[in-house]
Amino acid sequence: MHLLHVVGARPNFMKVAPVLRALQHRPGVRQTLLHTGQHYDANMSDIFFQQLGIPAPDVFLGVGSGSHAVQTAKIMMQFEEAILDRRPDWVLVYGDVNSTVAATLVCAKLRVQVAHVEAGLRSFDRDMPEELNRLVTDQLADLLLTPSHDGDQNLLREGIPASRIRCVGNVMIDTLVRLLPQARLPEAPLQDRFALVTLHRPSNVDDPEILRGVLETLVDLSDGCQMVFPVHPRTRKKIEELGVLFPNEERFLMLEPLGYLECLALQKHATAVVTDSGGIQEESTWLGVPCLTLRENTERPVTISAGTNQLIGRDMVKLRSALTEILAGHGKTGRKPPLWDGKAGERIADILLEPAQPMLRRAA
Ligand code: UD1
Repeated sequence: MHLLHVVGARPNFMKVAPVLRALQHRPGVRQTLLHTGQHYDANMSDIFFQQLGIPAPDVFLGVGSGSHAVQTAKIMMQFEEAILDRRPDWVLVYGDVNSTVAATLVCAKLRVQVAHVEAGLRSFDRDMPEELNRLVTDQLADLLLTPSHDGDQNLLREGIPASRIRCVGNVMIDTLVRLLPQARLPEAPLQDRFALVTLHRPSNVDDPEILRGVLETLVDLSDGCQMVFPVHPRTRKKIEELGVLFPNEERFLMLEPLGYLECLALQKHATAVVTDSGGIQEESTWLGVPCLTLRENTERPVTISAGTNQLIGRDMVKLRSALTEILAGHGKTGRKPPLWDGKAGERIADILLEPAQPMLRRAA
Protein backbone atom coordinates (compact mmCIF):
# COMPACT_ATOMS: atom_id res chain seq x y z
CA MET A 1 0.00 0.00 0.00
CA HIS A 2 1.37 3.41 -1.00
CA LEU A 3 0.53 6.30 1.36
CA LEU A 4 1.34 9.89 0.51
CA HIS A 5 1.39 12.43 3.37
CA VAL A 6 0.89 16.14 2.65
CA VAL A 7 2.36 18.79 4.97
CA GLY A 8 2.99 22.47 4.40
CA ALA A 9 2.85 24.63 7.51
CA ARG A 10 4.29 24.50 11.01
CA PRO A 11 1.30 22.91 12.81
CA ASN A 12 1.30 20.01 10.33
CA PHE A 13 4.73 18.74 11.31
CA MET A 14 3.91 17.59 14.87
CA LYS A 15 0.86 15.77 13.47
CA VAL A 16 2.55 13.88 10.61
CA ALA A 17 5.52 12.67 12.71
CA PRO A 18 3.65 10.05 14.79
CA VAL A 19 1.71 8.73 11.79
CA LEU A 20 4.90 8.26 9.75
CA ARG A 21 6.50 6.48 12.70
CA ALA A 22 3.52 4.21 13.33
CA LEU A 23 3.47 3.09 9.70
CA GLN A 24 7.19 2.83 8.99
CA HIS A 25 7.60 -0.80 10.05
CA ARG A 26 4.19 -2.10 9.05
CA PRO A 27 4.54 -4.77 6.37
CA GLY A 28 3.57 -3.86 2.81
CA VAL A 29 3.53 -0.10 3.43
CA ARG A 30 5.39 2.43 1.27
CA GLN A 31 5.30 6.08 2.34
CA THR A 32 5.94 9.31 0.44
CA LEU A 33 6.24 12.65 2.23
CA LEU A 34 5.27 15.77 0.26
CA HIS A 35 5.99 19.29 1.62
CA THR A 36 4.17 22.06 -0.21
CA GLY A 37 6.58 24.75 1.07
CA GLN A 38 3.75 26.93 2.50
CA HIS A 39 6.15 27.58 5.39
CA TYR A 40 9.74 27.87 4.24
CA ASP A 41 11.84 29.73 6.87
CA ALA A 42 14.33 27.46 8.66
CA ASN A 43 12.69 28.25 12.02
CA MET A 44 9.15 27.62 10.70
CA SER A 45 9.97 24.34 8.95
CA ASP A 46 13.48 22.75 8.93
CA ILE A 47 13.97 22.81 12.69
CA PHE A 48 10.78 20.76 13.16
CA PHE A 49 12.00 18.10 10.75
CA GLN A 50 15.24 17.84 12.75
CA GLN A 51 13.73 17.87 16.24
CA LEU A 52 10.80 15.59 15.42
CA GLY A 53 12.94 13.12 13.46
CA ILE A 54 10.86 13.50 10.29
CA PRO A 55 12.68 12.25 7.17
CA ALA A 56 13.48 14.83 4.47
CA PRO A 57 10.48 15.26 2.15
CA ASP A 58 10.49 13.11 -0.99
CA VAL A 59 8.73 15.91 -2.85
CA PHE A 60 9.04 19.66 -2.16
CA LEU A 61 6.76 22.01 -4.07
CA GLY A 62 8.26 25.28 -2.82
CA VAL A 63 5.05 27.30 -3.20
CA GLY A 64 5.87 29.96 -0.54
CA SER A 65 3.61 32.82 0.58
CA GLY A 66 0.83 34.64 -1.26
CA SER A 67 -2.82 35.57 -0.91
CA HIS A 68 -5.05 32.64 0.03
CA ALA A 69 -6.20 32.18 -3.57
CA VAL A 70 -2.68 32.37 -5.00
CA GLN A 71 -1.19 30.04 -2.40
CA THR A 72 -4.03 27.50 -2.68
CA ALA A 73 -3.99 27.58 -6.49
CA LYS A 74 -0.21 27.16 -6.69
CA ILE A 75 -0.37 24.15 -4.39
CA MET A 76 -3.20 22.61 -6.43
CA MET A 77 -1.39 23.02 -9.75
CA GLN A 78 1.84 21.46 -8.56
CA PHE A 79 0.21 18.86 -6.35
CA GLU A 80 -1.87 17.57 -9.27
CA GLU A 81 1.28 16.77 -11.23
CA ALA A 82 2.86 15.08 -8.22
CA ILE A 83 -0.20 12.87 -7.70
CA LEU A 84 -0.56 11.94 -11.35
CA ASP A 85 3.08 10.81 -11.32
CA ARG A 86 2.75 8.75 -8.16
CA ARG A 87 -0.86 7.54 -7.90
CA PRO A 88 -0.85 6.62 -4.19
CA ASP A 89 -3.54 4.40 -2.64
CA TRP A 90 -4.22 6.97 0.06
CA VAL A 91 -3.36 10.62 0.57
CA LEU A 92 -3.21 11.75 4.21
CA VAL A 93 -3.85 15.43 4.93
CA TYR A 94 -3.43 17.13 8.31
CA GLY A 95 -5.18 19.92 10.20
CA ASP A 96 -6.72 22.97 8.57
CA VAL A 97 -4.11 24.92 6.64
CA ASN A 98 -4.27 25.95 2.99
CA SER A 99 -2.11 22.95 2.00
CA THR A 100 -4.73 20.62 3.54
CA VAL A 101 -7.67 21.88 1.52
CA ALA A 102 -5.70 22.33 -1.71
CA ALA A 103 -4.48 18.73 -1.70
CA THR A 104 -7.91 17.38 -0.78
CA LEU A 105 -9.64 19.19 -3.63
CA VAL A 106 -7.13 17.83 -6.15
CA CYS A 107 -7.51 14.27 -4.86
CA ALA A 108 -11.30 14.42 -4.87
CA LYS A 109 -11.30 15.31 -8.57
CA LEU A 110 -8.70 12.69 -9.44
CA ARG A 111 -10.61 10.10 -7.37
CA VAL A 112 -7.68 9.42 -5.09
CA GLN A 113 -8.72 8.45 -1.54
CA VAL A 114 -8.08 11.02 1.18
CA ALA A 115 -7.83 10.51 4.94
CA HIS A 116 -8.12 13.70 7.01
CA VAL A 117 -6.20 13.64 10.28
CA GLU A 118 -7.74 16.04 12.84
CA ALA A 119 -11.14 16.02 11.15
CA GLY A 120 -14.40 17.39 12.55
CA LEU A 121 -13.15 20.44 14.45
CA ARG A 122 -15.42 23.47 14.10
CA SER A 123 -15.20 27.01 15.45
CA PHE A 124 -18.48 27.90 13.64
CA ASP A 125 -16.75 31.11 12.61
CA ARG A 126 -16.44 31.52 8.86
CA ASP A 127 -14.31 34.63 9.27
CA MET A 128 -11.48 32.21 10.07
CA PRO A 129 -9.77 30.94 6.91
CA GLU A 130 -9.08 27.66 8.70
CA GLU A 131 -12.82 27.05 9.28
CA LEU A 132 -13.45 27.18 5.53
CA ASN A 133 -10.54 24.80 5.00
CA ARG A 134 -12.01 22.37 7.57
CA LEU A 135 -15.52 22.44 6.09
CA VAL A 136 -14.36 21.76 2.53
CA THR A 137 -11.77 19.16 3.49
CA ASP A 138 -14.22 17.15 5.60
CA GLN A 139 -16.92 17.16 2.94
CA LEU A 140 -14.49 15.79 0.36
CA ALA A 141 -12.36 13.37 2.38
CA ASP A 142 -13.14 9.63 2.38
CA LEU A 143 -11.95 8.85 5.89
CA LEU A 144 -12.33 11.31 8.78
CA LEU A 145 -10.03 10.71 11.72
CA THR A 146 -11.17 12.85 14.65
CA PRO A 147 -9.26 13.84 17.81
CA SER A 148 -12.32 13.90 20.11
CA HIS A 149 -16.01 12.95 20.07
CA ASP A 150 -17.24 16.51 19.55
CA GLY A 151 -15.62 16.19 16.12
CA ASP A 152 -17.71 13.07 15.35
CA GLN A 153 -20.91 14.94 16.28
CA ASN A 154 -20.03 17.91 14.06
CA LEU A 155 -19.45 15.63 11.08
CA LEU A 156 -22.66 13.64 11.60
CA ARG A 157 -24.59 16.92 11.79
CA GLU A 158 -23.12 17.89 8.40
CA GLY A 159 -24.45 14.68 6.89
CA ILE A 160 -21.23 12.68 6.75
CA PRO A 161 -21.97 8.95 7.08
CA ALA A 162 -20.85 7.38 10.38
CA SER A 163 -18.98 4.69 8.42
CA ARG A 164 -16.41 7.30 7.31
CA ILE A 165 -15.74 8.68 10.80
CA ARG A 166 -13.28 7.20 13.32
CA CYS A 167 -12.28 8.83 16.58
CA VAL A 168 -8.56 8.14 16.98
CA GLY A 169 -7.51 10.73 19.58
CA ASN A 170 -5.12 13.62 19.40
CA VAL A 171 -2.15 12.86 17.20
CA MET A 172 -0.30 16.06 18.17
CA ILE A 173 -0.29 14.84 21.77
CA ASP A 174 1.61 11.73 20.56
CA THR A 175 4.50 14.02 19.67
CA LEU A 176 4.25 15.85 23.00
CA VAL A 177 4.29 12.58 24.98
CA ARG A 178 7.29 11.29 23.04
CA LEU A 179 9.39 14.45 23.17
CA LEU A 180 8.54 15.99 26.55
CA PRO A 181 11.58 14.32 28.18
CA GLN A 182 13.81 16.11 25.65
CA ALA A 183 12.16 19.54 26.01
CA ARG A 184 14.72 22.23 26.81
CA LEU A 185 14.34 25.92 27.58
CA PRO A 186 15.79 28.33 25.02
CA GLU A 187 18.98 30.16 25.94
CA ALA A 188 17.38 33.48 26.84
CA PRO A 189 17.12 35.72 29.93
CA LEU A 190 14.04 34.06 31.47
CA GLN A 191 12.69 35.12 34.85
CA ASP A 192 11.48 32.52 37.39
CA ARG A 193 7.91 33.48 36.63
CA PHE A 194 6.80 34.20 33.09
CA ALA A 195 3.80 34.03 30.75
CA LEU A 196 4.28 32.56 27.28
CA VAL A 197 2.61 34.68 24.59
CA THR A 198 1.96 33.66 20.97
CA LEU A 199 -0.11 35.63 18.44
CA HIS A 200 -0.54 35.16 14.72
CA ARG A 201 -4.26 34.95 13.82
CA PRO A 202 -5.35 37.55 11.27
CA SER A 203 -8.21 38.50 13.67
CA ASN A 204 -5.61 39.65 16.24
CA VAL A 205 -2.72 40.93 14.18
CA ASP A 206 -4.06 42.28 10.88
CA ASP A 207 -5.96 45.26 12.37
CA PRO A 208 -3.33 47.66 13.80
CA GLU A 209 -5.63 49.00 16.55
CA ILE A 210 -6.55 45.52 17.81
CA LEU A 211 -2.90 44.47 17.83
CA ARG A 212 -1.89 47.68 19.58
CA GLY A 213 -4.57 47.11 22.26
CA VAL A 214 -3.35 43.56 22.95
CA LEU A 215 0.32 44.54 23.05
CA GLU A 216 -0.24 47.55 25.30
CA THR A 217 -2.22 45.41 27.75
CA LEU A 218 0.55 42.80 27.80
CA VAL A 219 3.16 45.52 28.31
CA ASP A 220 1.19 46.79 31.35
CA LEU A 221 0.82 43.28 32.73
CA SER A 222 4.56 42.64 32.32
CA ASP A 223 5.01 44.75 35.44
CA GLY A 224 3.96 41.72 37.51
CA CYS A 225 5.15 38.87 35.29
CA GLN A 226 7.67 38.61 32.45
CA MET A 227 6.10 38.16 29.02
CA VAL A 228 7.99 35.74 26.77
CA PHE A 229 6.88 36.23 23.19
CA PRO A 230 8.28 34.19 20.29
CA VAL A 231 7.08 36.25 17.33
CA HIS A 232 5.54 34.64 14.22
CA PRO A 233 6.82 36.22 10.95
CA ARG A 234 3.44 37.69 9.99
CA THR A 235 3.09 39.25 13.47
CA ARG A 236 6.63 40.67 13.39
CA LYS A 237 5.89 42.56 10.18
CA LYS A 238 2.75 44.06 11.72
CA ILE A 239 4.50 45.03 14.98
CA GLU A 240 7.26 46.81 13.08
CA GLU A 241 4.61 49.02 11.46
CA LEU A 242 3.03 49.94 14.85
CA GLY A 243 5.82 51.62 16.81
CA VAL A 244 4.73 50.26 20.26
CA LEU A 245 7.33 50.89 22.98
CA PHE A 246 8.36 47.69 24.74
CA PRO A 247 10.04 47.54 28.17
CA ASN A 248 13.39 45.76 28.70
CA GLU A 249 13.88 42.00 28.25
CA GLU A 250 13.46 41.30 31.96
CA ARG A 251 9.85 42.29 31.53
CA PHE A 252 9.13 41.72 27.84
CA LEU A 253 11.27 39.17 26.04
CA MET A 254 10.70 38.97 22.30
CA LEU A 255 12.23 35.97 20.51
CA GLU A 256 12.41 34.57 17.00
CA PRO A 257 10.01 31.64 16.32
CA LEU A 258 11.18 28.69 18.42
CA GLY A 259 11.83 25.05 17.76
CA TYR A 260 9.37 22.44 19.05
CA LEU A 261 11.48 21.38 22.05
CA GLU A 262 11.99 24.96 23.22
CA CYS A 263 8.32 25.87 22.80
CA LEU A 264 7.28 22.78 24.76
CA ALA A 265 9.67 23.57 27.62
CA LEU A 266 8.42 27.16 27.79
CA GLN A 267 4.83 25.94 28.00
CA LYS A 268 5.71 23.45 30.71
CA HIS A 269 7.46 26.05 32.88
CA ALA A 270 5.11 28.98 32.19
CA THR A 271 2.83 30.30 34.91
CA ALA A 272 0.30 31.10 32.19
CA VAL A 273 -0.05 30.89 28.43
CA VAL A 274 -1.66 33.68 26.39
CA THR A 275 -2.29 32.56 22.81
CA ASP A 276 -4.46 32.46 19.71
CA SER A 277 -2.95 29.19 18.45
CA GLY A 278 -5.03 26.00 18.22
CA GLY A 279 -2.22 23.59 19.05
CA ILE A 280 -1.04 25.52 22.10
CA GLN A 281 -4.56 25.42 23.59
CA GLU A 282 -4.28 21.63 23.43
CA GLU A 283 -0.69 21.31 24.60
CA SER A 284 -1.30 23.56 27.63
CA THR A 285 -4.38 21.49 28.53
CA TRP A 286 -2.30 18.31 28.49
CA LEU A 287 0.44 20.00 30.54
CA GLY A 288 -2.12 21.43 33.02
CA VAL A 289 -0.96 25.04 32.52
CA PRO A 290 -3.68 27.74 32.54
CA CYS A 291 -4.28 29.07 29.03
CA LEU A 292 -5.96 32.37 28.09
CA THR A 293 -7.10 32.27 24.47
CA LEU A 294 -7.40 35.58 22.66
CA ARG A 295 -10.25 34.44 20.43
CA GLU A 296 -14.04 34.64 20.56
CA ASN A 297 -14.40 30.90 19.90
CA THR A 298 -12.42 27.71 19.68
CA GLU A 299 -12.67 24.66 17.43
CA ARG A 300 -11.19 22.68 20.36
CA PRO A 301 -13.99 22.95 23.00
CA VAL A 302 -12.66 20.00 24.99
CA THR A 303 -9.78 22.25 26.11
CA ILE A 304 -12.44 24.35 27.88
CA SER A 305 -14.82 21.63 29.12
CA ALA A 306 -12.03 19.34 30.38
CA GLY A 307 -8.85 21.39 30.21
CA THR A 308 -7.23 24.58 31.45
CA ASN A 309 -8.33 26.82 28.60
CA GLN A 310 -10.44 29.98 28.95
CA LEU A 311 -11.75 32.17 26.11
CA ILE A 312 -10.88 35.84 26.51
CA GLY A 313 -11.85 37.13 23.07
CA ARG A 314 -10.70 40.70 22.57
CA ASP A 315 -11.77 41.81 26.03
CA MET A 316 -8.64 43.35 27.50
CA VAL A 317 -10.34 43.93 30.88
CA LYS A 318 -10.99 40.18 31.03
CA LEU A 319 -7.38 39.45 30.06
CA ARG A 320 -6.13 41.61 32.92
CA SER A 321 -8.39 40.03 35.52
CA ALA A 322 -7.82 36.45 34.31
CA LEU A 323 -4.04 36.83 34.31
CA THR A 324 -4.11 38.50 37.72
CA GLU A 325 -6.11 35.53 39.09
CA ILE A 326 -3.57 33.07 37.68
CA LEU A 327 -0.64 35.01 39.13
CA ALA A 328 -2.42 34.94 42.50
CA GLY A 329 -2.44 31.13 42.24
CA HIS A 330 -6.12 30.76 41.25
CA GLY A 331 -5.67 29.56 37.66
CA LYS A 332 -8.05 27.08 36.05
CA THR A 333 -7.19 23.43 36.61
CA GLY A 334 -8.23 20.58 34.31
CA ARG A 335 -7.73 17.00 33.24
CA LYS A 336 -6.45 15.30 30.11
CA PRO A 337 -9.22 14.53 27.60
CA PRO A 338 -9.84 10.87 26.64
CA LEU A 339 -7.59 9.40 23.92
CA TRP A 340 -4.91 12.06 24.40
CA ASP A 341 -2.61 9.22 25.33
CA GLY A 342 0.27 9.17 22.84
CA LYS A 343 -1.20 6.30 20.78
CA ALA A 344 -3.30 8.08 18.14
CA GLY A 345 -0.70 7.43 15.40
CA GLU A 346 -0.86 3.67 16.05
CA ARG A 347 -4.66 3.75 15.92
CA ILE A 348 -4.50 5.55 12.56
CA ALA A 349 -2.08 2.96 11.20
CA ASP A 350 -4.37 0.14 12.34
CA ILE A 351 -7.38 1.70 10.65
CA LEU A 352 -5.60 2.34 7.34
CA LEU A 353 -4.44 -1.27 7.25
CA GLU A 354 -7.81 -2.82 8.16
CA PRO A 355 -8.72 -5.35 5.44
CA ALA A 356 -12.16 -3.75 5.01
CA GLN A 357 -10.73 -0.30 4.31
CA PRO A 358 -10.35 -0.63 0.50
CA MET A 359 -14.16 -0.85 0.31
CA LEU A 360 -14.09 2.90 0.74
CA ARG A 361 -12.28 3.24 -2.54
CA ARG A 362 -14.34 4.96 -5.17
CA ALA A 363 -14.81 3.68 -8.68
CA ALA A 364 -11.88 4.67 -10.88
C1 UD1 B 1 -0.71 29.29 8.69
C2 UD1 B 1 -2.08 28.61 8.79
C3 UD1 B 1 -2.57 28.69 10.23
C4 UD1 B 1 -1.56 28.16 11.20
C5 UD1 B 1 -0.24 28.91 10.99
C6 UD1 B 1 0.85 28.45 11.91
C7 UD1 B 1 -3.48 28.78 6.77
C8 UD1 B 1 -4.71 29.40 6.23
N1 UD1 B 1 -3.07 29.26 7.95
O1 UD1 B 1 -0.93 30.67 8.95
O2 UD1 B 1 -3.75 27.91 10.35
O3 UD1 B 1 -2.01 28.34 12.52
O4 UD1 B 1 0.17 28.71 9.63
O5 UD1 B 1 2.01 29.19 11.76
O6 UD1 B 1 -2.95 27.89 6.17
N2 UD1 B 1 5.95 33.74 6.53
C9 UD1 B 1 7.31 33.81 6.57
N3 UD1 B 1 8.02 32.66 6.58
C10 UD1 B 1 7.41 31.43 6.56
C11 UD1 B 1 6.01 31.38 6.50
C12 UD1 B 1 5.29 32.54 6.49
O7 UD1 B 1 7.89 34.89 6.61
O8 UD1 B 1 8.12 30.41 6.60
C13 UD1 B 1 5.15 35.00 6.54
C14 UD1 B 1 4.84 35.51 5.17
O9 UD1 B 1 4.86 36.88 5.20
C15 UD1 B 1 3.41 35.06 4.96
C16 UD1 B 1 2.84 35.13 6.37
O10 UD1 B 1 3.94 34.79 7.22
O11 UD1 B 1 2.73 35.86 4.06
C17 UD1 B 1 1.70 34.21 6.60
O12 UD1 B 1 2.05 32.86 6.21
P1 UD1 B 1 0.89 31.85 5.72
O13 UD1 B 1 1.41 30.48 5.52
O14 UD1 B 1 0.14 32.44 4.60
O15 UD1 B 1 -0.11 31.82 6.95
P2 UD1 B 1 0.17 31.76 8.53
O16 UD1 B 1 -0.29 33.03 9.11
O17 UD1 B 1 1.53 31.28 8.86
